[in-house]
Amino acid sequence: MALTRLKDRANRHRQRRWSLLCLILLLGACDNPRGLQATDPPYRPVANPQQLMQWILDPAADVIWDSAGTIITAEGRQELAPTTSAGWESVSAAAITLSEAGNLLMLPGRSMGNDWQEYAQALVSAGEQAFKASESRDADGLFDAGGQIFQVCKACHAQYWIREGDGR
Ligand code: HEC
Repeated sequence: MALTRLKDRANRHRQRRWSLLCLILLLGACDNPRGLQATDPPYRPVANPQQLMQWILDPAADVIWDSAGTIITAEGRQELAPTTSAGWESVSAAAITLSEAGNLLMLPGRSMGNDWQEYAQALVSAGEQAFKASESRDADGLFDAGGQIFQVCKACHAQYWIREGDGR
């Protein structure tokens, strides 16, 4: 009799230990921030690739290219770098726009092939480089970043922009 009661107590004790362990595991799961991010962010791409290019990437790239380097005019050599804070701020805004546009290109459903994400990543970096140059009012740095941006646009287009009449 005494022995069964002793066994009963041991069993109840074990059960309580299990409950405690389960509770700790549950709390642990709540503590894990990855667990909380289990659902995908509710993004909803709206622009088609052509609109993304024409209205987001192209205007932003133009701001940078029009603000870097020199041009030769009838009056002589003209530096394109901004001369006012407001001018530099527009360049910074365009650079950030391009950088983040790289992220937009990476959204699932937008990629058109294996190298796509690499070009998109390169755009994030080149845009960031332009942003840093602009923030430190570094005209030469902006010119270099502008060149890199151009290379990224060109490389992706060569591979993924199939123009009518290209015969591809
Ligand atoms: C990751 C690939 C990729 C990158 C990077 C990229 N493009 Fe494009 N671009 C495309 C594709 C694909 C098209 C064809 C879209 C279509 O017509 O459906 C295109 C088309 C365009 C067009 C033509 C849009 C029109 O009106 O028909 C312009 C302008 C353009 N891109 C500008 C740029 C500029 C500027 C950059 C760099 C700052 C750039 N793109 C970077 C993939 C890319």
